Amino acid sequence: MATRAITVLASGRGSDLQSVLDSIAAGWIANARVGLVLSDDPDAFALERARRHDIPAEAVPAAPGRDGKAAQEARIAQLAAQHDADHLLLLAGYMRILSKDFVRAHPQRIINIHPALLPAFPGRDGPGDALRHGVRVAGCTTHFVDEGIDTGPIILQGAVRVHPDDDRDTLHARILRLEHQILPRTVDLWAQDRLRLDGRTVRIRPGDTWAEKVEPVEEAMYPHGF
Ligand code: GRF
Repeated sequence: MATRAITVLASGRGSDLQSVLDSIAAGWIANARVGLVLSDDPDAFALERARRHDIPAEAVPAAPGRDGKAAQEARIAQLAAQHDADHLLLLAGYMRILSKDFVRAHPQRIINIHPALLPAFPGRDGPGDALRHGVRVAGCTTHFVDEGIDTGPIILQGAVRVHPDDDRDTLHARILRLEHQILPRTVDLWAQDRLRLDGRTVRIRPGDTWAEKVEPVEEAMYPHGF
């Protein structure tokens, strides 16, 4: 199977992006490569991470005005398509909502990671919302993007224990350590073509596991398929 191209969209420091780059460099993800990194923020450190790996990186800020979002998304689609017809759009800390038209144009080709156990706590602050709600278990979710907000078919989830003295940042940091394993494994399963959609359930075809490879995140629970 030819190496499959991924375009990564990130808005911030890019540690999720880095976890994918590191897993590819380590040979844990055999037939995928990050061909392009885009950000809505020209100052996003994720762009610098790409440049350090000699990966094309470009800011595509939201253009002003009523048609600004459409123009930004058209540019994203154009740049991604230039890098490979088979690309996956991976949202690794991308903080903008993609339009329904854009999502419809990319069925089962956009994967997102969210720092909560969806469908609980969608939106901009999963860890904070979970902590304020008083949960005992939190975590992260990778999913195909559909036309809703964090509502698409779930691929993998990982769970961590919430500590009594946690604040938002300590909880998010623990979740992020798990994200850095769940996200690359999700990319690996996609690259191995082991994901099949059955209604809104993602079936994972049998194959290898990362269980023996990774240093488990303290007290974390890993899903079927990891
Ligand atoms: C991650 O927690 C991701 O789940 C959320 O934003 C954060 C991005 O972190 N959407 P980074 O920029 O990849 O370090």
